[in-house]
Amino acid sequence: MQHKGTKILETKRLTLRPWRENDAEEAFAHWMNDSEVTKYLTWAPHGDVAATRTLLKTWEEDCKSPDCYHWAIVLKEGNILIGDICILQVDDHNERGEIGYCMGKAWWGKGLMTEALREVLRYLFEEVGFYRLNGCHAAENIGSSRVMEKCGLSYEGTRRKFMRLLSTGERVDIVERGILREDYSRNA
Ligand SMILES: CC(C)(COP(=O)(O)OP(=O)(O)OC[C@H]1O[C@@H](n2cnc3c(N)ncnc32)[C@H](O)[C@@H]1OP(=O)(O)O)[C@@H](O)C(=O)NCCC(=O)NCCS
Repeated sequence: MQHKGTKILETKRLTLRPWRENDAEEAFAHWMNDSEVTKYLTWAPHGDVAATRTLLKTWEEDCKSPDCYHWAIVLKEGNILIGDICILQVDDHNERGEIGYCMGKAWWGKGLMTEALREVLRYLFEEVGFYRLNGCHAAENIGSSRVMEKCGLSYEGTRRKFMRLLSTGERVDIVERGILREDYSRNA
């Protein structure tokens, strides 16, 4: 694996680019303040834009590192910041990482996260040389399940009542998925 970091990536409708502190206002207004977006995530909605700015300042720094894979998702039409996609727990020895993403509600259901993830997978398998990418989602998070399915991540099991939702404390099942380099090559 040869790290290449958060390179700017393009799809038909999207630009994926490194984070900037100055993205705070848009990120806060478009999803980071929204409890519906964070329902199945491990963080609570931000109470004010200052919290978003503090976070994005660290993300901007992180994005300069060659082993950081963390993109702001920008809709080309109108140049609107609509979401976030990243690889967590990058593991050099095993050449693997874990996919994370979220997007503002106004843009759900248009195939946009599928478009972003497909391009990220292409980059990570074809250009960087990852061997495996993991993904997981709450069993009831159908949108995320579909995104991973459409991008070729196979079902590998369910961890029963693995997570407590931050908002309600409810325990939910977590579905584990994964895609290997050979799965990707077979379907590319
Ligand atoms: C999950 C998320 C990224 C999906 O992004 P998206 O751009 O809407 O995804 P796509 O449009 O590419 O695909 C979504 C699919 O799920 C389907 N879907 C979404 N919600 C659904 C529901 N409640 N019931 C049935 N199908 C649903 C859509 O119809 C679409 O399927 P299709 O392509 O077969 O028509 C977005 O909803 C989101 O940001 N959610 C909040 C954050 C989050 O949960 N992140 C993932 C944590 S694991």
